[in-house]
Amino acid sequence: MSRHIALVPAAGSGSRIGSAVPKQYLPLAGRPLLAHTLAALLVHPAIDAVAVVISPEDEWFDRYVWPLERLAVLRCGGASRAESVASGLVQLALDDDDWVLVHDAARVGISQAALTRLIATLASDPVGGLLALPVPDTVKRGDADGRVADTLPRAGLWLAQTPQMFRAGLLKQALAAAPLAEITDEASAIERLGLSPRLVEGEAGNFKVTYPQDLSLAEALLSARAG
Ligand code: CTP
Ligand code: MG
Repeated sequence: MSRHIALVPAAGSGSRIGSAVPKQYLPLAGRPLLAHTLAALLVHPAIDAVAVVISPEDEWFDRYVWPLERLAVLRCGGASRAESVASGLVQLALDDDDWVLVHDAARVGISQAALTRLIATLASDPVGGLLALPVPDTVKRGDADGRVADTLPRAGLWLAQTPQMFRAGLLKQALAAAPLAEITDEASAIERLGLSPRLVEGEAGNFKVTYPQDLSLAEALLSARAG
């Protein structure tokens, strides 16, 4: 049976959150944000190993205690998320048919149920896929003055989440061919090969901590689950 390996890019700077401490190390319910994300992946019974990609210049990671007997730490992050993922993949000894689940460090709310749904739905999928949410709101395009230019049909629109799960061989091939500075997720690299990743229903709680106000929301979610 092929293995399931989680790969967590955590080499960003968190510019939109704008804090002195990098986003992945901001305190959340008493632990650095990254610790919550890794814990959710480490505890899932179908995930065989977890690797985190940090920046070679990271001065924060070693200040905390991590379950290093079960966690591979790859200090090879790059200038973009896709570069961090691509260089992390090179470091791991993977078989081509191992499944890789790429998951943003900043999505602390990933649930066990969503991981199980993703892994089970894609078990015999020829392409792989990603968690995603149907767009719930009416979608507007804005103009340069901050006024509505038009309203877009919402039908068929999804918001991409992570994990994004693909076979290691296919994902490496897709990333080797893609413009890494431009793409913002693995699925778009796969799409460039002419393949159609499967959309698996994600959940609102799996949002990406991006702006300062997301921190209190994430904290409320985590404490509600703990209690
Ligand atoms: N990431 C990475 N390497 C980069 C940029 C981002 O590994 N060069 C990671 C981030 O650490 C994060 C995930 O990719 O876990 C999703 O990126 P995002 O939420 O955009 O985080 P940042 O890039 O750090 O934030 P911002 O875009 O606001 O600067
Ligand atoms: Mg970013």
